[in-house]
Amino acid sequence: MLKSCVYTRFASLTPLHSNIHNNHQRVCFHLLSERLPQSRKLSSHARKVKATKHKNQLESVKHAERYHPPWFSVAPMMEFTDNHYRTLARIISKHSWLYTEMVVAETLVHQQDNLDRFLAFPSEQHPIVLQIGGSNLDNLSKAAELANRYSYDEINLNCGCPSGRVAGHGCFGVRLMLDPKFVGQAMSAIAAKCDVPVSVKCRIGLDDHDSYNELCEFIYTVASHSPTKHFIIHARKALLNGISPADNRKIPPLKYEYYFGLLRDFPELQFTLNGGITSIGQVNAARKQGAHGVMLGRAAYHNPWSTLGCVDSSVYGEPGVGLSRRQVLEQYQQYCDSVMGNNNGSYKPSLRLMVKPLLGLFHSEPGNGLWKRKADTALRHCETIEAFLEETLDAIPNDVLNSTISRKSSCGEDDFADVHSSLPFPYRIREQEMTQSLTVNFKSLEDI
Ligand SMILES: Cc1cc2nc3c(=O)[nH]c(=O)nc-3n(C[C@H](O)[C@H](O)[C@H](O)COP(=O)(O)O)c2cc1C
Repeated sequence: MLKSCVYTRFASLTPLHSNIHNNHQRVCFHLLSERLPQSRKLSSHARKVKATKHKNQLESVKHAERYHPPWFSVAPMMEFTDNHYRTLARIISKHSWLYTEMVVAETLVHQQDNLDRFLAFPSEQHPIVLQIGGSNLDNLSKAAELANRYSYDEINLNCGCPSGRVAGHGCFGVRLMLDPKFVGQAMSAIAAKCDVPVSVKCRIGLDDHDSYNELCEFIYTVASHSPTKHFIIHARKALLNGISPADNRKIPPLKYEYYFGLLRDFPELQFTLNGGITSIGQVNAARKQGAHGVMLGRAAYHNPWSTLGCVDSSVYGEPGVGLSRRQVLEQYQQYCDSVMGNNNGSYKPSLRLMVKPLLGLFHSEPGNGLWKRKADTALRHCETIEAFLEETLDAIPNDVLNSTISRKSSCGEDDFADVHSSLPFPYRIREQEMTQSLTVNFKSLEDI
């Protein structure tokens, strides 16, 4: 039942999913060619490596076919969307697509003995997208190759980060939007080394390069120089004039009309809308106006119950997980215990890190303020998550702890209704206009 529903809906979202099917064919082809006699000449080590790679390829194809499309995703957020947060998110929503924090390509290349620390994740976290950052083709390609062993469902390149360390000194992140041809090359290099679709997350522009036409040029160039079919659009430009990354997520105005313009002008591509969306009502409103997918960052982190808690039923039309927050905490505690128990001493996550994703769980509920104050005190001496929860949870009323997710408000459901009346001029018409005006100019020259 689920499968047929998934496939029918895939059919209406052709580019991304035809990619998945292409991957499937590619893997099957690889498997067939592996049966040829010359593979016997491989050393046993090489055979083992190849076998693992094929197992992973099959895994990722299996996963990709099992999931709904990325109608809803949780944004990559450095120091926030780590394994702990993603585990909590997955307990609350089975169908959301989860993005990792950005991992810089050079980190993977230089830490090849320590890759699990940066790339490993529990298999329940599928569907999951790895975001990488960088501007060196060799390193991006090598990073994609290293990441491929971990069976992510998509690899994404960061072309939106405005932080000084990234876009300034690092010369990547949003600065890459100034060189779309390079981004096309980078995406080809990444795609050549992995078995899953690739995508780009970008802003709508930066500094004075903020016209709709320049955004279209970026999308057009990247898509025509690489197999990239999916773009995540953070619908505000970045300012590289020294304002902080946090201000860069507040000060430049949101221009949703650019996003909807892209839907109109590039019907063969997939676009996910990001930026300033805070409720599931708004997610559904954007989808009603044609958005292929919607990505939430801060709201999904700071208020996971009201956002992620409604995704499965409201966005995907599937049954919700049906858990109360008490049950969510029980499952999360099991995860924390297993992480602590499995620890071999090389990297010990602190209790503070594991508690951090929980701090938004009672957003706007009675007892939330007291709970946070108690959490602050408890973190100074508790050593296990069990002790932490025991000491703090009496601040939250039982009905809050024991009730399951209910869709409370329809907030934002009328948003985006007027967006089609304020779209920018179509990209291709501008091209035609340019050709026409050139023709007119030539004609007037002939008249002279
Ligand atoms: C703390 C923090 C860290 C972020 N780190 C990343 C990152 O690593 N990569 C990225 O592409 N965007 C990053 N972003 C930007 C988000 O992915 C997202 O584009 C932005 O927050 C706008 O979405 P929102 O309004 O739903 O939060 C970060 C945002 C925040 C708040």
